[in-house]
Amino acid sequence: MPLPPAKSSFSLLVLLFLAITATSSAHNITRILAKHPEFSTFNRYLSLTHLASEINRRLTITVCAVDNAAMDDLLDKHMSIYTLKNVLSLHVFADYFGSKQLHRITKGTTLTATLFQATGEAPGTSGYVNITKLKGKKVGFAAEDNDGHFSANFVKSIQEIPYNISVIQISNFITSPAAEAPVAAPAEVDLIDLMSKKGCKEFAKLLQNSQISKQFTDLMENGLTVFCPIDKVVNTFLPKYKNLTKNGQISLLLYHGIPDYHSLGMLRSKNGFINTMATTKGKNNKYDFSIQNDGDNVKLETNIVTAKITGTLLDEEPIAVYKIDKVLQPSELFKAQSINTKDTSSGDSDGDDGDGDVPADSTAANNNGAMIMSVNGGWLITFVLSIIGNLVFV
Ligand SMILES: *[C@@H]1O[C@H](CO)[C@@H](O)[C@H](O)[C@H]1NC(C)=O
Ligand SMILES: *[C@@H]1O[C@H](CO)[C@@H](O)[C@H](O)[C@H]1NC(C)=O
Ligand SMILES: *[C@@H]1O[C@H](CO)[C@@H](O)[C@H](O)[C@H]1NC(C)=O
Ligand SMILES: *[C@@H]1O[C@H](CO)[C@@H](O)[C@H](O)[C@H]1NC(C)=O
Repeated sequence: MPLPPAKSSFSLLVLLFLAITATSSAHNITRILAKHPEFSTFNRYLSLTHLASEINRRLTITVCAVDNAAMDDLLDKHMSIYTLKNVLSLHVFADYFGSKQLHRITKGTTLTATLFQATGEAPGTSGYVNITKLKGKKVGFAAEDNDGHFSANFVKSIQEIPYNISVIQISNFITSPAAEAPVAAPAEVDLIDLMSKKGCKEFAKLLQNSQISKQFTDLMENGLTVFCPIDKVVNTFLPKYKNLTKNGQISLLLYHGIPDYHSLGMLRSKNGFINTMATTKGKNNKYDFSIQNDGDNVKLETNIVTAKITGTLLDEEPIAVYKIDKVLQPSELFKAQSINTKDTSSGDSDGDDGDGDVPADSTAANNNGAMIMSVNGGWLITFVLSIIGNLVFV
């Protein structure tokens, strides 16, 4: 029996997801480098920047390690950990280069995409590295935009597992103004303080009292969008809020966050459903809402209310905080009062109902795509999107 397109694309995504996560045990960069104390600083910073898990997740990858002396020079620049992450991610190639491949580069020069390019942090093509055969059998590495100067040379192969992972030593780090550009430290944004000072004091208070603000701040490094209802509407909503169970209150607050960064421009070009921090997979608790645009207005529609974005408190990738003119009420927690009632909820339940069915509509397929994206991030985004594109839109 042929599956409907959305369902078959979903199963394919699941297969893809399993296939890719199954590779995670294939290699462990931390363990590979641990055998070589001269790379201990590089190794430590791969872990601190979370690049190690990113590397372990991927196949066909090359890691260019620098020794402790070179790392000391880099650390002397006193970069934030976020900038350091960009610099180190330029040293991880999305292709396999063992010693043999490096010395046999066709035409003696090539460009290769790095993790810096894959994360979308790199402006233009600055996330590519130029590998060129130099005089005297040397192999040089430079940023894509170089003036003929190669800051690093191939030294030796550390470990090669063809064609899964190649770990090589290079003489120095690859200098790149784009990768070394200061990155605003997202952790420095105090969400509660920001909202309190800019018209969302009541909502900030609810977040603080519920003790879930950590769930928001934990996302600030990788992408977070918050919609905070203005004080006036929170105050009138308070009796309804207090009426919810503790779990219901938490779900309501999480419903106002999206685990992803969306600029106003991105929201304006989006029409359709979006998952929230309250969305749980494998249950009927979708906790999603729909984004609709008319002209310059961005509207957020749950089945119960339609809220409008009325201001921007902060929009600095990876964090965006917007003011909205209504409390977002999910249909999972509230019954619709209008004729528009589509009752899939059980009143003010704690949001734990649901039969675990995988919904087969296209929204579900999109939601699942989004789930996989946030789990794997980076490279997989384009990959999964292209697969969805092929299956659903072709
Ligand atoms: C490369 O990774 C694949 C997939 O995880 C694994 O089956 C294979 O054994 C690995 N190759 C080597 C040489 O370890
Ligand atoms: C990789 O190896 C390190 C050091 O041996 C270990 O602490 C870590 O748990 C390993 N990671 C995975 C994903 O197995
Ligand atoms: C790499 O850089 C060198 C030196 O600037 C340049 O001559 C070469 O064309 C570059 N290679 C590629 C593939 O862009
Ligand atoms: C509180 O819940 C009860 C029972 O569900 C309901 O009858 C009442 O209207 C609710 N009060 C408010 C202020 O929403």
